Amino acid sequence: MIINSQLVYYILIAIILIIIILFWFIWSDLIGAGFEPTSTRRVKRMLEMAKLKGEDVVYDLGSGDGRIVIMAACKYKVRAVGIEADPIRLAWSRLRAFLIRCPGRASFIWGNFFREDINQATVVTIFLSAKANQKLKYKLLTELEPGTRVVSYYWRIKGWRTIKEDRENHLYLYIIGQTHHQFYGDRDKF
Ligand SMILES: C[S@@+](CC[C@H](N)C(=O)[O-])C[C@H]1O[C@@H](n2cnc3c(N)ncnc32)[C@H](O)[C@@H]1O
Repeated sequence: MIINSQLVYYILIAIILIIIILFWFIWSDLIGAGFEPTSTRRVKRMLEMAKLKGEDVVYDLGSGDGRIVIMAACKYKVRAVGIEADPIRLAWSRLRAFLIRCPGRASFIWGNFFREDINQATVVTIFLSAKANQKLKYKLLTELEPGTRVVSYYWRIKGWRTIKEDRENHLYLYIIGQTHHQFYGDRDKF
């Protein structure tokens, strides 16, 4: 049987596209957490729990489509920064922030939040995974000032005491300096 070379070509292109799309879905899971947006109701609750004030700086680690950053900048008029590894979601977030034009300042960093400096944050929001939260502990303790609020959706930070919980919405508030055992800077103790 003679195989139509054009057909082979199309099948090859389709296979490559499927691999790229699969990789796109799996990749963010591998570096922290896959994409799943927090519902608007929960984003509101997260920011309420953090008790945002005008001078706060919010960092959303793994900012997805930018919804937390945009709501913080629009509703609370604060500076909000999203760090997102996925360039497509990042571009979409930037476009949304540009079109909405919030009174606060919404900005986005394309990168891996494990490698980005977050020491300017006074509020950190996360919706990641149990594993990523565990991996983040050392970074949160070494880069954030005492008093910084960390609000996690769905996943607790294992071993840390919550300052407030919204069990209905699976939201957990932690405060650096109040929420964990004395930190002696020893990475292995975490
Ligand atoms: C569960 S989604 C949460 C999105 C958003 N924060 C929300 O609550 O709607 C997790 C996001 O984190 C991103 N992400 C995962 N690991 C990351 C990493 N190491 N650095 C930057 N972004 C990461 C994923 O691409 C995904 O968009």
